[in-house]
Amino acid sequence: MNNDLQVWLNGEMISRRDATVPILSHGFSRGSAIFDVLGVHSGPNGPMAFRLDDHLRRFNNTAALVEMELAYSTDKIVEAVKATVKANNIDRGLIKILAFWSEEAITELVLNSKLDVAVFAIPEGEELVLDKKHSITACVARWRKLHPETVPVGAKACANYLNGYLARKDAVSRGFDIGVLLGTDGFLAEGSTESVFVVKNGVLMTPPLGRVLSSITRLSILQAAPEYGMSIVERSITGNELMAADEIFVVHTGTKIEAVARFEDRELAAPGPVTSQVMQMMDDIMQFKDERFKKWFMPMD
Ligand SMILES: Cc1ncc(COP(=O)(O)O)c(C=O)c1O
Repeated sequence: MNNDLQVWLNGEMISRRDATVPILSHGFSRGSAIFDVLGVHSGPNGPMAFRLDDHLRRFNNTAALVEMELAYSTDKIVEAVKATVKANNIDRGLIKILAFWSEEAITELVLNSKLDVAVFAIPEGEELVLDKKHSITACVARWRKLHPETVPVGAKACANYLNGYLARKDAVSRGFDIGVLLGTDGFLAEGSTESVFVVKNGVLMTPPLGRVLSSITRLSILQAAPEYGMSIVERSITGNELMAADEIFVVHTGTKIEAVARFEDRELAAPGPVTSQVMQMMDDIMQFKDERFKKWFMPMD
C-alpha cells in the first residue's frame, strides 16, 4: 500500500495514512457511504479525466437516490479531483471519490448532516492493474441482484456491494473469475462490479437501466458502437439467452473490456469478432485516436 499518496478530504490535502474514519462512524458502522470511480488517461499534453462530468452527475444522483446531501458542489469536487491528480503526479490511474457520514452514531439511523467528501487518486502500478487484456471465466451467481424495489440499484452506494461481494465469492469458490447476477425475475442484471454485454447473431445487447448501475463504460459503448457500424440494443435478456450467447463480455472503468472464454460449462470465442471490434473501438477512444470522442476527456490542469 502506497502511504505516500495525498488525499483530498473536506478541502484539505492529507496523507493516505491519516485518511481514516472512526470505527463507530455512521459511514463505517452503518454503511452510509457512496462513491464513484473514474479513469485518468495519459493524454498528449498531460493527464485527462474520462467523462468526469458524467461520473459526477452519477455521484450526485447516487446521493439523491439515497436521500443524502453532499457537503460540496460539483465545481468544488472537480477542483478537488484536479488538485489530487496534481498532488500525486498521476499520469494514468483511477480516481475514487467517496462521500460518507463521518460522525459516530451509536443508535441513530438517520443523521441531518451533509456528507464528508474524500478524493483518492491511485496511479496505475502494483496496487492497481488497469486494462486487463486476458479473458475470464464466468458463471451465474447463486445470489440474485438486489430487487430495485428494495434499494435503489442505480445508486453507487457502498452498502449495495454486499450483493456483489456474495456473487463474486460464490463464483470464485466454484473456480470461476466472476459471477453474473440475474434479477429476481430471472432476467440478466450485471456482474458484481461490471456491466454485461451479450452478442447473438452479430447484435450487441445489454440489459436496460432500472435493474443495473448506469455504468459509464456501458453508456460509452452504447453511444459509440452505432458510429462504428455496430448494431446495439438495450433490452431484457433471459437466462436462456445468456446461456446461448455467441459472445459475452463484461466492462468496467478500470479493467475496460474482458471477454468471457467460458460461461458455466460452455466455451466461447474470447474475444469473438464483435467483442474484438468493441475492444478496438474503446482503444481508439481511450488513446485519443477518435476525434469524435475527444470531447469526453477533461484536462487535469
Ligand atoms: C455494479 C456495477 N456495475 C457496473 C459497473 C461498471 O461501471 P463503470 O463503467 O462506470 O465503471 C460497476 C463499476 O464498478 C459496478 O460496480
